Amino acid sequence: MSESRMKWLVAELNRHNRLYHTEDQPEISDSEYDALFRELVELEASHPELRQADSPTQRVGAAPSGGFKEHRHAVPMLSLDNAFGEEEVRAFDERVRRSLETEEPVEYLAELKFDGASISLTYEGGRLVRATTRGDGTTGEVVTANVKSIRGVPQTLLGAVPDSFEVRGEVVMLKADFETVNALRIAAGEQAFVNPRNAASGGLRQINPNETAKRQLTFFPYGLGKGRLADSQSAILERLHAMGFEARTDVAICRGADELVAQLLAVEAGRATLPFGIDGMVVKVNDLLTQSQLGSTARGPRWAVACKFAAEQAFTLLREVSWSVGRTGVVTPVAELEPVFVGGVMVGRATLHNIEDLRRKDVRPGDTVIVQRAGDVIPEIVGPVLDKRPSEAMEVVPPANCPVCDSPLTQDEGFVALRCMNPACPAQIHAKLIHFASRGAMDIEGLGEKQLQRFAELGWITDVASIFKLSTHREEMEALDRMGQQSVSNLLSAIEEAKTRPLDRFVFALGISQVGEKTAKDLAKIFRSVEGLLQARYDDLIAVSDIGPRTAREIESWFEDPANRAMLTELEACGVTPAELDGPVGDLFAGQTLVFTGKLTQFSREAAEELVVNLGGKSAGSVSKATSFVVAGPGAGSKLLKAEQLGVRVLTEDEFLAMLPDGMLS
Ligand code: IVH
Repeated sequence: MSESRMKWLVAELNRHNRLYHTEDQPEISDSEYDALFRELVELEASHPELRQADSPTQRVGAAPSGGFKEHRHAVPMLSLDNAFGEEEVRAFDERVRRSLETEEPVEYLAELKFDGASISLTYEGGRLVRATTRGDGTTGEVVTANVKSIRGVPQTLLGAVPDSFEVRGEVVMLKADFETVNALRIAAGEQAFVNPRNAASGGLRQINPNETAKRQLTFFPYGLGKGRLADSQSAILERLHAMGFEARTDVAICRGADELVAQLLAVEAGRATLPFGIDGMVVKVNDLLTQSQLGSTARGPRWAVACKFAAEQAFTLLREVSWSVGRTGVVTPVAELEPVFVGGVMVGRATLHNIEDLRRKDVRPGDTVIVQRAGDVIPEIVGPVLDKRPSEAMEVVPPANCPVCDSPLTQDEGFVALRCMNPACPAQIHAKLIHFASRGAMDIEGLGEKQLQRFAELGWITDVASIFKLSTHREEMEALDRMGQQSVSNLLSAIEEAKTRPLDRFVFALGISQVGEKTAKDLAKIFRSVEGLLQARYDDLIAVSDIGPRTAREIESWFEDPANRAMLTELEACGVTPAELDGPVGDLFAGQTLVFTGKLTQFSREAAEELVVNLGGKSAGSVSKATSFVVAGPGAGSKLLKAEQLGVRVLTEDEFLAMLPDGMLS
């Protein structure tokens, strides 16, 4: 059993290696590859006698594909072992200390793990003489002509440099270049690149150097092959910087595992704001003598590890495209997928945004598609893998009628959104209820999507007002599966509390088209009460800054609609009396802009931001010269860095609390 599985894993991993390194046509995601690789490593560890000579655990990358002159690396271009998550980072540090027989914290350099393709640049007499791809780690392809157009590859070095040495690093495509290059390709009728990494590695191996130049690639150095420059990794990077390379300065010296883990969190938090993609953080023992004491295995050095983030993209099968009706009646295409692990979670559905997006991407049931989930952003479909499209795959035709209530759909002016105009559409009512009870709106804990569905099926919840009559079903609820007295009582008190939510939350909860949290806040501040809003006319609404004609019309007609008026009256009869907002309760932060970053331990970010507004200030999401100060909690990353660069004052949470008038946060 183990033997046949191992054989299969070796063949499969070798095939994927070739697809990835030689053909730039990967069929599986990095995390799927890593999972197979790990399985093989574990099997080989328990059955060393069955290890095959051509096992990918014994090599890096894939053999050169031909077409370019080959070059044997003077020093092999090794790969790195991976560490996923805090525990594996700590395990790496333990291995290092055990090997060095020390209890003392080891000094590491934590670098960004660039998501691109590695190259080795040979300089002789300060001039670039050769550039080679990694290839299989032992032999690479000579791509000198192509590399000359890459930003960050100096042809001639500055200052005094060794006679002959090799600089190694990663070729990447910046996010902004990826957008521009893809836009140009689409305009020229060419296929867009799937991701910046594939565009970069394919770009290196173009037969015509002008094709490489068109891709606008960038090089970041991360170390040396042959040659010696300094005694530590951090000093090597500084030297490379002085010679004219774009060595990144966002590296960190970390002493011991705790500092590494904190840095990993900071790097991950700042990932989205970097101008290029990274897929993790590389940790290296900083001192070169200690590195040589630790040595290397066939695959990679024992003194370094790649701390990988969960992959943000994965390939999977698109089973079908379904249509979902939102609370304002907008009908959106949704990709129903073969579940796949991406961005740290299992994803079975992903948005296709609107019919225009669907048309542009032209994904079809049966297609292999690329799914993306970056940070907390909802999963989306990047596009199909056309080479794998089955011949019978049919284009998706948008429905003419609502998939739930069957009423005819209309298209808005821009022909982007399909809309169900039936206000009694059960799907709309249900989506409105979910929104009404959700966080940021009425925030009724225990009344999520599933519970609402259950109560709706029992006929207890038919509209928003019926939420506030749920107590009449108390005993029946207690008899339900997975409910019990305590959770029923918790739910009913959460509903009771929601009756006096601040007016802005109530207005947001109503689900008026175009009215998000910010507009709801503006409306609540200016019109002060539900009564005030009922009386507001178009001219009053348009006078509010940030409210345009379309939103003003939507708001006016919502409050004029007799059905909505009846709903408000009924809510009032149920005891729903939103708390009116007070004006600013102080002017401590008048004219100032604050940014909160990192983890706040003594209050929620929402509470802190509300407080700043109540004290006359503004709270912003990013740091600029206009920022008055930054409040940074543990794990603060790029915003803290930016503040330090710009000389913006940084406060701890305690210092911020100490500024506040007594009792503000109680
Ligand atoms: S050091 C012997 N540092 O990651 C050590 N590699 O998974 C060689 N990479 O082949 C690598 N950023 O292509 C190193 N800061 C960095 C890196 C980095 C990206 C790539 C490199 C390497 C692969 C290993």
